[in-house]
Amino acid sequence: MKRLGILLSGRGSNFQAIADQIGAGALDARIAVVISSRTQAPGLEIAHRRGLNAVCLPSKNLEREVYDRQLADVLRDNQVDLVCLAGFMRLLSGWFVRQFPMRILNIHPSLLPAFPGLDAQHQALDHGVKIAGCTVHFVDENLDAGPIVLQAAVPVLDGDTVDSLSARILEQEHRIYSQAIRIVLEGKYRVEGRRVVRSPDTAY
Ligand code: GRF
Repeated sequence: MKRLGILLSGRGSNFQAIADQIGAGALDARIAVVISSRTQAPGLEIAHRRGLNAVCLPSKNLEREVYDRQLADVLRDNQVDLVCLAGFMRLLSGWFVRQFPMRILNIHPSLLPAFPGLDAQHQALDHGVKIAGCTVHFVDENLDAGPIVLQAAVPVLDGDTVDSLSARILEQEHRIYSQAIRIVLEGKYRVEGRRVVRSPDTAY
């Protein structure tokens, strides 16, 4: 069974959605380790409560590559096949990305390449877009930039606040992250330039 390494820094709702899909038998994988970059992350507590292998690796005051080497060690020790960033609030070094080529996924709450970086939902509202959404993509050496596996769109409503829009997007995040993980773990895709092209028999 393929082994996931989940990296988080906060709430952990995407991590929970992935764990739920695995629990329901909809995703054939095992969470080998959950790593939090923050001691106080609610996601870490949830991982403990679920009886998962949860590791706290505080990133505070550590140089990027020093931290990334610790991270890579824990992932390797746990024989992780795929690294899933789920609200991991830290930029990964080029060194780290090269250790796991096309083996790191991220979820971002916008339709990339629009609104990379922090507060994507706020950026979308400020810009006045009528359609927002989320993206699961491979992680490369640039911020929120690697090849896109899946996206989902949601409408922006006139009365929306950052909270209401974020909640609508989050529902879709929880849906497409597990789908994207399944596609990648099953290897039913190929990458042509920036395009992730799915195999014809992949019906979700
Ligand atoms: C999500 O909106 C995700 O797209 C972004 O960070 C947030 C994490 O939320 N990268 P959660 O910790 O998974 O609840």
